Amino acid sequence: MAAIIIDGKAVAAKVRESAKLRTAVLKEKGIVPCLAVVLVGEDPASLSYVTGKEKALAEAGMLGRDIRLPSATSEAELLSLIETLNADASVHGILVQLPLPKHINEDRVITAIDPVKDVDGFHPVSVGNMVLGRPGFLPCTPHGVLVLLRELAIPLSGAHAVVLGRSNIVGKPLANLLSRRDVNATVTVCHTGTKDLAKYTREADILIAAAGRPGLVTADMIKSGAAVIDVGVNRVSDPRSKKGYRLAGDVDFDGAVEKAGWITPVPGGVGPMTIAMLMQNVVEAAEIYSRSISGD
Ligand code: GUN
Repeated sequence: MAAIIIDGKAVAAKVRESAKLRTAVLKEKGIVPCLAVVLVGEDPASLSYVTGKEKALAEAGMLGRDIRLPSATSEAELLSLIETLNADASVHGILVQLPLPKHINEDRVITAIDPVKDVDGFHPVSVGNMVLGRPGFLPCTPHGVLVLLRELAIPLSGAHAVVLGRSNIVGKPLANLLSRRDVNATVTVCHTGTKDLAKYTREADILIAAAGRPGLVTADMIKSGAAVIDVGVNRVSDPRSKKGYRLAGDVDFDGAVEKAGWITPVPGGVGPMTIAMLMQNVVEAAEIYSRSISGD
């Protein structure tokens, strides 16, 4: 039996609607949630992500402060911009699109963002709060994956989740969130150093592919009935497409859909959730600000 194809757009729309309602409440108090979106350089994929985020902000009634900087921007200039945004009370969230040009140290930039405005959840303070289970901003893609799994009522407690990839943005935080007591999955992390990857993936009740390698996961690697979540967004050249490329996940969808119990498509699966969770974090940042000035 073919898998249930998870409609990420539909779940994302619900999350965005809720962010919009919360925004309306804040606006009545005179606060308009505002996200500063900083893009350095002209990487086409980054530009397309940033445009999507700005569109979503507008749809939720929030403000986007778009800051586009040339690729030759120095690290010092970027750090100074972040200081200015940290000090600006009308900016509630700061997002610096990654990757940054090679001459800029990403760690220093992420660490410069005030944790109360760290809606990406990348600051070491946010990561520490997540690991300790304290309140704080969760990174958008891993949080979005968790919300998708919950919305679809996919059994998590006691399930074996196998995460492919150990990036700071996806693999590491996902492994952490899935093993939290309130989720209660048993987690295996696989990466480029893993020998016999299929041995692990075939044991997965939940298989999350976040390796950035198109077609890495084939049907023979999937346990029958498993939930397969594809976080990969790879541009693969396709002369038949107008743009010259198409988006492909890490999973061979056509094969996997016959074997899995649930599967996310690319596009239209995890991608929309990332933006939706960002909207949720921005409105939350603005709510925290609102409480801080009213003394509640
Ligand atoms: N690059 C790829 N994903 C992300 C993300 O979630 N946030 C930022 N800032 N950059 C990214």
